[in-house]
Amino acid sequence: MHALLEELGSAASAALVKEFGAEKLSVPVVFEPSPRADVQCATAMRLGKSLGRAPLDVAALLADAVAAHPAVAKTEVAKPGFVNVTLHDAWLAAHLDDALVHRPVGAGQTVVLDYSSPNVAKPMHIGHIRSTILGEAMKRVLRAVGYTVVADNHLGDWGTQFGKLIVAWRRYLDAAAYARDPVGELLRIYVKFSDEEKAQKAALGVPVRSDDDDNDDAPLPAQAPELLREARAELVKLQAGDPENVALWKQFIDVSMIEFERIYKRLGVSFDEVLGESFYNDRLPGTVDALLATGTAEPSQGAVVVNFTKERDGAAMTPMLVRKADGGFLYGTSDVAAMTYRVERWNPSRILIVTDERQQLHFRQLFAVARRLGIEAKLEHVWFGLMRLPEGTFSTRDGNVISLEALLDEAEERAAAVARSLNPELPDAEVANVARVVGLGSVKYNDLSKDRQTLVTFTWDKALSLQGNTAPYVQYAYARIRSIQRKVAELGAVPGPLVALEPAERALVLTLLKYPLAVEEVAMSARPHVLCDYLFALAGAFATFFNDCPVKDAEPAVRAARLTLCDRVATVLRRGLDLLGIEVVERM
Ligand code: ARG
Repeated sequence: MHALLEELGSAASAALVKEFGAEKLSVPVVFEPSPRADVQCATAMRLGKSLGRAPLDVAALLADAVAAHPAVAKTEVAKPGFVNVTLHDAWLAAHLDDALVHRPVGAGQTVVLDYSSPNVAKPMHIGHIRSTILGEAMKRVLRAVGYTVVADNHLGDWGTQFGKLIVAWRRYLDAAAYARDPVGELLRIYVKFSDEEKAQKAALGVPVRSDDDDNDDAPLPAQAPELLREARAELVKLQAGDPENVALWKQFIDVSMIEFERIYKRLGVSFDEVLGESFYNDRLPGTVDALLATGTAEPSQGAVVVNFTKERDGAAMTPMLVRKADGGFLYGTSDVAAMTYRVERWNPSRILIVTDERQQLHFRQLFAVARRLGIEAKLEHVWFGLMRLPEGTFSTRDGNVISLEALLDEAEERAAAVARSLNPELPDAEVANVARVVGLGSVKYNDLSKDRQTLVTFTWDKALSLQGNTAPYVQYAYARIRSIQRKVAELGAVPGPLVALEPAERALVLTLLKYPLAVEEVAMSARPHVLCDYLFALAGAFATFFNDCPVKDAEPAVRAARLTLCDRVATVLRRGLDLLGIEVVERM
């Protein structure tokens, strides 16, 4: 389909160049699939002005230009300036196998993909899952179109929370509880620390912010509570290499990693690198020196900051602090170091960083710094809306955390009920597997299927529904095809070439051919919901086909052709879900 769209586009462009001259062609002529035609071109509406012609006239020219292409059966001009193209059935049938081939648009290029990146000593909660799931899908999609992908888990293993944790450890640790559930106990003492800190603040009359884990880099206020002073002191000792604090810090990382890895395994997620913030510690002094030497950063009241101006950076933003007056470095400093390191080590053409919406300013600042340092890679902050439960949002500090594992357990339980209701005869062992695949699938698909920049509210009924754009719906479509294939195979029938296409078959072939377009769009725009929308549409087109076109009872040549369609649809559903990190089952 890609090749055809390009051929139509260049035939149409050539006609316009011939008529009006190349300099008049202000935008390229684009043909693309559309709900109203096999292929449509809307460029005439954009070109009318610069060509000095009515869009309908331009459209007529474009239609003429592509009419002779061997794939084109019919062209039509529609108000206010569309060209609608109908393709030959024979062309569609002959190109069926293109549905399974991606253009290698990423060949020879490397992408560094920074995702998941949870914070040590805090459990991964439902709010972290989206970075992990989106990132993993992007990794698979980018690889499918030929990119070399470096999947890097930029662990939050450094920062002010360690001062607090060390104080909390010494004051509040319950050793038995820690032995049973290390990260749970670390969370408990962390929450206790902040409760006590809040109480001390209240006693001092200092205002308490409701929810903010990220603002601990600010200088200590004059009226800081005792606990906070202690935490800062422990942090300074840790940064200076105090053996006891360093040993504690390492222990926090180790116990957290065990937990993270268990979850990654369950989710089927894997990384090539786990270079946490602390990996860059050695590089921070040099990073700030380089920023100063290139004039990117400047001293300001004892600290070092990067200032941004509209002229130079496209927007005036608040300055970015890269070294505090006390000599301490910040989250942003290690990000600058990471950026430089990644460019030197992998020479990527793109760097993608997946986090929630709250870090948009941070990455706009960081990318402006990178541009001033001469970094040419395309830098993309793949941000997503915070996940909410109907009862509200999440915060580690308040202890209002839904554990990701509890969520996945519940997903599997609920999916088991769905599996039993669909097919009461399924043996228990198979129910367990269906429950795992559908339960995990629904949680992932729920995150992936919505435009990442919209706010997601999680509800079980929606995530597990067998109707609509959900994992169970798409997984069920796959299982249903597999069951048809088994039944027909029992009759000894095998797939064969396509024959004259009925409308539902034609629509199905056309939908199949759009699969590589959807995958490529996800790779380029980092919006996996486009692939979910596609799979949902394909499952829908299959449902219509299956309703209108009997497979088992059709005469042999038609049955063979329909088996081929079943086979391709099953393959695309399975591969598409796999790119999203979601498995299928052979029956449910
Ligand atoms: N650990 C950070 C957080 O949880 C996310 C890190 C994202 N990556 C980065 N290079 N800053 O907020």
